Amino acid sequence: MKQVLDEVLAAIDWRALGDVYFHEAGEAELRERQPRIVELGAELGSALGRRLPRGGRSLWVGAGIGELPALLAEVLEHGREVVATNLRGAECDILNRALAAAGQSSSLVYRAVDAREVAAAGAFDHVGCVSLFTDPETWPLLSDVAYGRIAPVQLDVERFAAEREDARGLARALFDALARPGWITTSAEEAPWFLEQATLVGASYDADDELVETAIVGDPVGFLQILEA
Ligand SMILES: C[S@@+](CC[C@H](N)C(=O)[O-])C[C@H]1O[C@@H](n2cnc3c(N)ncnc32)[C@H](O)[C@@H]1O
Repeated sequence: MKQVLDEVLAAIDWRALGDVYFHEAGEAELRERQPRIVELGAELGSALGRRLPRGGRSLWVGAGIGELPALLAEVLEHGREVVATNLRGAECDILNRALAAAGQSSSLVYRAVDAREVAAAGAFDHVGCVSLFTDPETWPLLSDVAYGRIAPVQLDVERFAAEREDARGLARALFDALARPGWITTSAEEAPWFLEQATLVGASYDADDELVETAIVGDPVGFLQILEA
């Protein structure tokens, strides 16, 4: 697994990926984070391996370079299928080219599609999203509010409500695609989107104590187990 990951990382066009993530000096910024991406990705991969059953399927939403080690671990070490989605087409292309160069196209492909399309088509026993509902490109106001970057007097309430309904729709689609019992891996900020859905359908849940740091956005992620109603 380590050798495969090293080969994929070596094949990444870091300059192009840096431009996707950062406005300036992106390549240097990402290369500096590479050891953390590997180390924290391995921790996340192990944490998933301790929870998720072999032979299951994960739907990852907004997955990027930060999740790459964990996604490969799921497939190669834990015998699972992974569907990874991300609306940034350029990032998907860069990661897919690196996976292909390392001979891993059959293990993992990043799909530049709205996760709602994938969720509608099949059942998953795990949904993963790291810093999805706080994405400033997709929902600028939700992101500002979640990170405390906007003063109440500045909030455009109607735009905020529209963003919240859109995000709620995504949370509902992901929750509906989850088999029960099933796992959700997400950050503390994002858990309420799913807990609202659980409450609406009367499903119970367990929130695990363990948290794992993440390399890019920095929001630690935890694990929710959704149980039967
Ligand atoms: C802030 S980034 C986080 C990226 C990565 N998870 C990380 O932590 O570094 C949010 C990502 O969610 C993706 N995204 C937003 N809405 C999505 C949707 N409906 N389906 C798939 N990806 C989505 C965006 O394209 C973006 O790549």
